[in-house]
Amino acid sequence: MPDILPADQIYWQKVGEVIKNLTRAYGFERIDTPVLEEVDLFIKGSGSDTDIIEKEMYNLRTKGGDRLTLRPEFTPAIIRAYLENGLASLPHPVKLYSLGPIFRYERPQKGRYRQSYQANFEIIGEKEPVLDAQLIQLFFSISRELSLRNLTVQINSIGCPSCRPAYRKKLINFYKSRKDQLCLNCQRRLKQNPLRLLDCKENQCRQIAQEAPQLIDQLCDDCHNHFKSVLEFLDEVNIPYILNPYLVRGLDYYTKTVFEIWPEGKEGRQISLAGGGRYDGLIKLLGGRDTPAVGFAIGLDRLVGLIKERGIKFNQRRRPLVFLVQLGDLAKKRSLKLFEELRQSGLEVASSFSRDTMKVQLGTADKLGARLTLILGQKEALDETIIIKDMNSGIQETVPLIKIVKEVKKKIRNS
Ligand code: HAM
Repeated sequence: MPDILPADQIYWQKVGEVIKNLTRAYGFERIDTPVLEEVDLFIKGSGSDTDIIEKEMYNLRTKGGDRLTLRPEFTPAIIRAYLENGLASLPHPVKLYSLGPIFRYERPQKGRYRQSYQANFEIIGEKEPVLDAQLIQLFFSISRELSLRNLTVQINSIGCPSCRPAYRKKLINFYKSRKDQLCLNCQRRLKQNPLRLLDCKENQCRQIAQEAPQLIDQLCDDCHNHFKSVLEFLDEVNIPYILNPYLVRGLDYYTKTVFEIWPEGKEGRQISLAGGGRYDGLIKLLGGRDTPAVGFAIGLDRLVGLIKERGIKFNQRRRPLVFLVQLGDLAKKRSLKLFEELRQSGLEVASSFSRDTMKVQLGTADKLGARLTLILGQKEALDETIIIKDMNSGIQETVPLIKIVKEVKKKIRNS
């Protein structure tokens, strides 16, 4: 579970700002749900045979005997909140986004953490393919604002309850005769979750998967037309994509479109930046009306990691800084109040009250890039005056303390 250190906050702030601005532009409203949820919500929602449920949940039992878990993803929690809080009676589509941590007990490695942050987006109540494409477009708007290029979408359709069962049977038949060649994990998964065999990363399983029947050839008309439309919309907005027949995603609720977004080049081999898809059956499964939905989530740790790896820098646009230097007991007392006055007047102020020498304090002002330094010494404190030093020209001027805010603002305006 990584710490986010001060030096990295600029990236997180920028990512947060861009996401908040764009989600507003795309008509999303923010929803925050608790970090703890009932275990059963995810067993039912994400699917009991998924890696997340089988081995990655942080479960706990409360004193009252409730079985809770640290959310491993947002989607079932958002649907729970949507159903419990009457959002289902709002005009649809209901577009919701969330920002926050998720928890997965994974083997930690670069880009894979036990606590990570997601920006999660859900559009509830529409079955139109244009929305699948619009979510992908939203991701590209976000990445463009962050100067991230060379990213590709991998996309597939995994059908629906009317076409998938027949395909599932075909797949089990195909794999049965090759069971001995599969890795142990796939041998075990063959019965409960055969689709997952298609995206196993083990060499021998990958080779076998290449000969496996492809779902894309067996889609029903509805799924076929939906998928075709999604791709046409992506073409329309010039978003490049790769059709990946092995992309099945690790969560059980998906129907029709599934997609992941990957960086191109060598960074891209291990980590997807975002993933999502359509889940037309989940709301009914969790006790609501039959309601289609589509969504995706961005892994913010990975997004920030890529921004840093690619050397992308963001300017910290700040107001000009005023640094307050104090010398002597009386000046120190006065400067505490003065600091607050300056700050409340809208100025960006810094100081180091615990340092007493002029040299050290001026050194700090210099390091912080202060435009002006205000020097309050023993004499000035007694005279009710203060010195303003322009850090570029070195020129100093003594002004009455009472006029300080006005004088500082004038100097900043003129400089
Ligand atoms: P997911 O593919 O499990 O989908 O996660 C989405 C993204 O979260 C991944 O592409 C990755 O960037 C990031 N992520 C996941 N686990 C970790 C980890 N351990 N460390 C770092 N980053 C990670 C979902 O969670 C779905 N709920 C998305 C969705 C929303 N589908 C429909 N609506």
